[in-house]
Amino acid sequence: MSNIEIAISALKAARKIVFFTGAGISAESGIPTFREKLTGIWEMYDPQRLETAKAFKKNPALVWGWYLWRRNLVARALPNAAHEMISRLGGGARTITVITQNIDNLHERAGSENVIHLHGSLDRPACFACKRPADLTTEQTKVSEVGELIEPPRCLKCNGRLRPGVVWFGEDLPSGAWKSAVSKVQACDVLVSVGTSGIVRPAADIPEIAQAAGAMVIHVNIVDVGLGELNELMLVGSAVDVLSVILHRID
Ligand code: APR
Repeated sequence: MSNIEIAISALKAARKIVFFTGAGISAESGIPTFREKLTGIWEMYDPQRLETAKAFKKNPALVWGWYLWRRNLVARALPNAAHEMISRLGGGARTITVITQNIDNLHERAGSENVIHLHGSLDRPACFACKRPADLTTEQTKVSEVGELIEPPRCLKCNGRLRPGVVWFGEDLPSGAWKSAVSKVQACDVLVSVGTSGIVRPAADIPEIAQAAGAMVIHVNIVDVGLGELNELMLVGSAVDVLSVILHRID
């Protein structure tokens, strides 16, 4: 039996399915992934050097401008068929949980509910100093389409600079999100890992946690990221292509 056939029959039989997603699932919505070379005004920067508190302290306008540019890119983007498939698969006796490393809101806009964001969200800025969450005015979300450096707005309570509500390298994941993610993963029958390089821990431990708890792990990626474990399947292909085939067969 081919891997896709094995995956389809496992998903048909599963009652609790977790989709664990990375930047690759949003790539077909036009959102750049984190390890591909940046373009335009950002091309001289390495994303991993922008995703740190140190970079923000050194050049707040650069880091704030980059995230605001990403936020506007997401606002102009649409969920793709992979996001849609995941939101449609739920219902009936099958429960679906989405755990994402992504900071975009494309899963929610495709209809998925209670999405667990392990690395925060572009929609939830906070004060760098006092940590209070902050809402941005429409004016404060404005940025040119090509991107620009923008001085972050100030916190209304303590006048500290606002920062993106995302988890930077060296920072802890939101404890509530991590705990609920692990409990869902340990209780699932199948975990489908879609579009992640599996580099950044502890998020990258999720598939191994699922395997240790006896679940089947199905990887969907344009490159082979399989670890060759017993209860693991590698489906090489784009998220849209592979998940569309699966949905069509399961529906
Ligand atoms: N379909 C499926 N997979 C894809 C597609 C696609 N259309 N396009 C790219 N991919 C795969 C790539 O092969 C790669 O394995 O998506 C993965 C993207 O990897 P990364 O850019 O490393 O993104 P991710 O794994 O989500 O990064 C994890 O690192 O930079 C931090 O906090 C950031 O959440 C991010 C974390």
